[in-house]
Amino acid sequence: MTFERSFRSIVILTGAGISAESGLGTFRDRDGLWTKYDLSEVATPEGFARNPVLVHDFYNARRRNLLEAQPNAAHAALAALERQWGGDFLLVTQNVDDLHERAGSQRLLHMHGELLKIRCEHCGHVTAWPGDLDLATACPACGNAGSLRPHVVWFGEMPLYMEEIYDALQSCDLFVSIGTSGQVYPAAGFVAEVRRAGRAHTVELNLDPSDGHSLFAERLYGPATEIVPEFVARLFASA
Ligand code: APR
Repeated sequence: MTFERSFRSIVILTGAGISAESGLGTFRDRDGLWTKYDLSEVATPEGFARNPVLVHDFYNARRRNLLEAQPNAAHAALAALERQWGGDFLLVTQNVDDLHERAGSQRLLHMHGELLKIRCEHCGHVTAWPGDLDLATACPACGNAGSLRPHVVWFGEMPLYMEEIYDALQSCDLFVSIGTSGQVYPAAGFVAEVRRAGRAHTVELNLDPSDGHSLFAERLYGPATEIVPEFVARLFASA
C-alpha cells in the first residue's frame, strides 16, 4: 500500500517503545520503570534535593544498561529515512538514550535531555559522561564538587528545544508518533498542535493505542522493529 500524496516535510516523535526491543525498559508498561521506582523520588528536582545519592544510583544503573544496548531495526529505519529523504526532516525524541544517534540519525532533538551527559548546576556546563556519577565528582569546567546532575529533564522542568519543535510541527505535512503512551505533555499535545495547523497527515505507530490515538488519521499497531521499517518502506515507495 502506498500513500495517495507525497510529503515534503516530516516530523517524527519517538518515545520509550522504540527502544524497548533494544532491552531498555519503558516507563508505564506492565514491567515499566515507574512500576518499580517512585518517579517523585528519582525524576523530580525535589527528589534530587531530598536524596541525591538515590537519584545518582538510579541514573548510574540506567547508564550502564544503555551502554550494553544496541540500536534496533526501528532506529535504523529512521536513520535510513533521514539519509535518503529529499525533504525537510526532524526527529524529536523523548528518549534520553543515544540509540538514534548510534543508528545514524543526525537531525535529532532530545527534548528530555541525554542520559550520557551531565550538567553543572553551578556553571551550567554540559559534559559528556558515560560512567557513574557521585556527589564527590567535580565539574570538569568550574571544578565545583557536588553541583553535578544528570542532563535529563525531570517532571516539573521545562523540556528542551520547544521553539524549534513547535515551528517544525506547524510547518510539517507528515507527523508520525512512535512508541509513546501519550501520557506526558508537552509531547502528548504535539498531534493536536499539528492538527490545528491543518495541513499534515498524522500517523501513530505503537504496540498499543496511546491515550491520544483517536487524534491520529492513521494508526498501526505492532512491535516497533516490524512496523517502523514497514512504514518507512511504504514512504519510499510513494516518494
Ligand atoms: N514497539 C512499539 N511500541 C512499544 C513497544 C514496542 N516493542 N513496547 C512498548 N511500546 C509502547 C507501549 O505500548 C507504550 O504506549 O511504548 C509506549 C511507552 O510508553 P511510556 O512507557 O509511557 O514511555 P513514553 O511515552 O516515552 O514516556 C514519556 O515519560 O517518564 C517520562 O521522561 C519520561 O520520556 C519519558 C516520558
